[in-house]
Amino acid sequence: MSQSNIFTLMVVIPLMFSQSAKGKDCVCELQNSDPAFPENKLNNIEFTATQCTENITSEKMTEIDRLVLGLQHRIRQLLENVSMLEREDNGNLYAAVSLRIIELEFAEIQDLLDKLNRTTDSYQQQSLQTAAELQDMEETMTELENFDHTQVMVKQRENQRIKRDLERCKEELNSTSPALTLSPGHCGLGRMVNVSGPKTYSLTVYGTSYSFGAWGRDANPALGDENKYWLVVLSSSNAYGNFIRQYNSLSTTILGIGPTDTYISSSNPTTNTIQGPNMVMYANAFYYNCYNTYYVCQFNMTTRSVSTVALPSDTGYNNKFPFAHLGTTYSYTDMDFATDESGVFVIYATTSNFGNVVISKVGTSNPPVLSQTWLTSLHKKTVTNTFMVCGVLYATRYLDKEIEEIFYSYDTKTNEERYDLRIHIKKMQTNIKYMNYDPRDHLLYVYSDSYIVTYEIMF
Ligand SMILES: *[C@@H]1O[C@H](CO)[C@@H](O)[C@H](O)[C@H]1NC(C)=O
Ligand SMILES: *[C@@H]1O[C@H](CO)[C@@H](O)[C@H](O)[C@H]1NC(C)=O
Ligand SMILES: *[C@@H]1O[C@H](CO)[C@@H](O)[C@H](O)[C@H]1NC(C)=O
Ligand SMILES: *[C@@H]1O[C@H](CO)[C@@H](O)[C@H](O)[C@H]1NC(C)=O
Ligand SMILES: *[C@@H]1O[C@H](CO)[C@@H](O)[C@H](O)[C@H]1NC(C)=O
Ligand SMILES: *[C@@H]1O[C@H](CO)[C@@H](O)[C@H](O)[C@H]1NC(C)=O
Repeated sequence: MSQSNIFTLMVVIPLMFSQSAKGKDCVCELQNSDPAFPENKLNNIEFTATQCTENITSEKMTEIDRLVLGLQHRIRQLLENVSMLEREDNGNLYAAVSLRIIELEFAEIQDLLDKLNRTTDSYQQQSLQTAAELQDMEETMTELENFDHTQVMVKQRENQRIKRDLERCKEELNSTSPALTLSPGHCGLGRMVNVSGPKTYSLTVYGTSYSFGAWGRDANPALGDENKYWLVVLSSSNAYGNFIRQYNSLSTTILGIGPTDTYISSSNPTTNTIQGPNMVMYANAFYYNCYNTYYVCQFNMTTRSVSTVALPSDTGYNNKFPFAHLGTTYSYTDMDFATDESGVFVIYATTSNFGNVVISKVGTSNPPVLSQTWLTSLHKKTVTNTFMVCGVLYATRYLDKEIEEIFYSYDTKTNEERYDLRIHIKKMQTNIKYMNYDPRDHLLYVYSDSYIVTYEIMF
């Protein structure tokens, strides 16, 4: 036992040393001025304490519970039997056979009662015995403490207190997760320097049925909704969606377990259904391009009602200014919604801005409003997708089947525009149809040819 070793070591501190050279050997004679610490007494107490704890287990309690349950069951049965016999009574008293059976029941119940009596008896005895032992231990401990010149026990107790404090400190450290609330433009994240390889990569429950879709988490969830994930597939013509599917966790999203579907409309497409894949969820409301208009739709997940706000009337929609690259255009991607630390943005293009990207902040009131707008020089059709981080717009372009490049940024705080970013995203499928940043986990959520993928942004 390492503990008793420590005691020995510490207790034997007030010593007298004498040293003498006998021949070639060096010998230390130890002379203990104090009587030896009664180490075995302490050991005994430790042993008894352990036994006490072991003996007073819940086993005894469950045994009593079991017996009582059995007893209750038997008595109930007997009652039923007796009342049945009473009902059957045909003038003679209960038939002799029935009486015999009741006798047998009684005998069994008596047996159970005896067992219960014995168990409680032994339990009581044990309690008494334990109390006596506790008293005994207490006396010995007092005795030992008086003996404790070198304060072994005091130190030990202090150690225990320090250990407890340490544990508490650790727990506190654990519970204070980095839940920083950061003002827009001052996220404290620093410059985006790279994007990790795919962190998760999976098909959805729909397999490869729908090549256009979107997914992610509410960027500003209600209490209790923090771990929910949403998924929308454009189930009609790769262009329209009419319901939002939600899962309770990432794993259930990937496995397709326990979805909750919230319908915007029963048919598709129709007024206010979803058009195009670039939508977001924010504060339990869904933001997307309303079907066949240049309006922003806000769908309240709780009330299931839609409120709208119009973008400028020369805003492209219905494939006028979609995301694209030389080889292809991504259908119905005229309007892209994005979340960052400060809220919701919509990215689109207008004729008056020559088909170049326009950014508007969407106030998430009801109805939604457009609160601020920035014009850029970035031609929308050269871009494959965009996302916002800390008030900075980032745009990607198609390099080849394996790589998408974040090449452009627009800082809404300084209006600074850059075309020289060369951050590569390793693709798992050829086409990225949806991309959005979640300010809570700093992940990019991507929908890529039926696959749902996340990437970690490095700052
Ligand atoms: C614990 O139970 C064992 C066996 O049942 C018994 O020998 C021992 O005295 C008990 N110890 C205490 C401290 O009750
Ligand atoms: C007494 O009641 C139990 C349960 O209700 C039943 O299984 C048993 O057959 C009855 N015994 C007699 C003698 O009726
Ligand atoms: C329990 O047992 C004790 C003696 O061991 C006895 O005096 C008492 O009457 C019994 N109680 C019952 C309910 O059987
Ligand atoms: C702290 O959290 C980590 C990971 O969540 C866990 O493994 C560890 O046991 C926790 N420590 C404490 C003291 O709660
Ligand atoms: C960026 O991240 C990728 C994937 O983790 C890595 O291969 C690459 O070397 C990184 N680039 C830089 C400039 O750090
Ligand atoms: C959605 O409806 C709920 C309940 O009426 C309301 O509290 C909430 O503010 C609404 N959300 C939005 C974004 O309007």
